[in-house]
Amino acid sequence: MKDLKTRIAQAHSDFSKELHACINEQALEIVRIKYLGRQGILTDLMSGLSELNAEEKKVFGPLLNELKKNIQDGIMQAKAEFAHQQKEAEAAKKAHFDVTAQPFYPQGSLHPYTRITQEIEDIFISMGFAVADGPELETEFNNFTGLNIPADHPARDEADTFWLPGFTHLLRTHTSPVQIRTMQSQKPPLAIIVPGRTFRNEATDATHDFMFMQLEGIYIDKNISISNLRATINIFLKKLLGDTIELRFRPGFFPFVEPGIEVDALYSFDKNKPAKWLELMGAGMIHPNVLRHGGIDPEIYSGFAFGMGLTRLAMLKYNISDIRIMHSSNTKFLSQF
Ligand code: PHE
Repeated sequence: MKDLKTRIAQAHSDFSKELHACINEQALEIVRIKYLGRQGILTDLMSGLSELNAEEKKVFGPLLNELKKNIQDGIMQAKAEFAHQQKEAEAAKKAHFDVTAQPFYPQGSLHPYTRITQEIEDIFISMGFAVADGPELETEFNNFTGLNIPADHPARDEADTFWLPGFTHLLRTHTSPVQIRTMQSQKPPLAIIVPGRTFRNEATDATHDFMFMQLEGIYIDKNISISNLRATINIFLKKLLGDTIELRFRPGFFPFVEPGIEVDALYSFDKNKPAKWLELMGAGMIHPNVLRHGGIDPEIYSGFAFGMGLTRLAMLKYNISDIRIMHSSNTKFLSQF
């Protein structure tokens, strides 16, 4: 009995100390649970009542009620005090609200692929080209046979191509299959460009990735010659890389063009080192077999095609030395653009 009395007195003084030590609502809640919770100190003390006789209950019942009320009041008051403090802090914040302050939200930016694609599209649109699209999952015909790439050509090697089971479909190894799709669905004159993802089964290093971006272009009409091709490429590359860029056209072989050429630019990543010729694109006059596969009569029409690696061009234009960073989500890298 005596024991219960001291325990009640102890609870009074402990509570008052702990209440004063509370610095915020969370701390207060912990104290509330400790005293008033289902397994709290008050419950514990109350359970002691059942062992007392009627006389004693008359004494301790009110004492415990008083303790309970004391704790409840203390917590309520402290809660109200915290709420009041918070209101005042908010009011103070509002009073000092600075509409000219700059918030430091991280800013989004365009990926180098998006940027270079938009720039290239602008240039070609200004020359009368339209932008087209094609699927990344292609048929064997559109990717190879239609493009005059025979069954025994090394480009079909399983080691270079991501084939689907059955070998009738694949992940396109270049954007050239869109040539066939466009010819089959539209009539000349045709002037389109196609930016898109391409895939090759290659080991990755600083300059190779198994996925990369290409941009294809075709121009088909009556009386199109290689001069039109040269002029178009010249205008395009000078607009993109600057008037002073030195270009070189040399013969190159692709089964779907005849004659075929490759275009190089003289470029130096490091101003202190001598510039080197960098291959930028393949191009040429569309092979008659390809025109026929596209349903276009090579006796009436001729045209040129070109295909370039957007990854290479973006690396050149923005001075990026490792291809793998282009496909990472490294925000430090991306925020530069
Ligand atoms: N498709 C060729 C490649 O991926 C590029 C190319 C396109 C060459 C059009 C000539 C004409 O390398």
